Amino acid sequence: MAWNPETYNKFKDERFTPFLDLVTLIKVQPDMDVIDLGCGTGELTRKLADLLSGARVLGIDSSAEMLDGAKAFANAQVRFEKLSIEEGVGLDAKWDLVFSNAAIQWAENHEILFEKIISNIKPGGQLVVQMPAQHHNVTNQMLLRLSEEPPFHTELAGFQKLSPVLNIEDYARILFENGGSEITV
Ligand SMILES: C[S@@+](CC[C@H](N)C(=O)[O-])C[C@H]1O[C@@H](n2cnc3c(N)ncnc32)[C@H](O)[C@@H]1O
Repeated sequence: MAWNPETYNKFKDERFTPFLDLVTLIKVQPDMDVIDLGCGTGELTRKLADLLSGARVLGIDSSAEMLDGAKAFANAQVRFEKLSIEEGVGLDAKWDLVFSNAAIQWAENHEILFEKIISNIKPGGQLVVQMPAQHHNVTNQMLLRLSEEPPFHTELAGFQKLSPVLNIEDYARILFENGGSEITV
């Protein structure tokens, strides 16, 4: 899917709110190695880095358009690479903090993906993730049904984006089964 940073930034204030909630869950340590999965325009990656003294932060995203703006937020602490989340979890690297705000809901197979993500965390490290789970609400159900009707079904060539987001207890179980402790879901 193509991303448009200008449209994205129109609702920036609303989008920052869950990020601000999320960062309060981080146990800040000095000099952390951090990856931000699906960093988008990088503005929040930079805000994250500014909160973490001495951290080395890598923001990755699969959209060239979103990453274009990210250059402005790079500094000695923060760098960006064009990589998918799936490629990012395959990197030969371990992290003190794996962070992601409003991005992993775009990646599939969460049972397997989260297992991989967790395997990239150093002992004692942290996983701090926010994903919207909107697929049960009425408006999203209506949009899904509309996509099955003319003219949308034809216009979209039958395409539907079904949410890969699991139930909350599934994430609790995945975290627990993969060695998680101090779990907040
Ligand atoms: C809603 S934006 C969130 C951006 C940023 N984390 C923030 O909070 O502002 C979702 C981002 O996920 C990225 N994305 C979607 N699927 C991805 C994937 N499979 N791998 C990497 N990035 C992905 C999109 O390009 C987009 O920049």
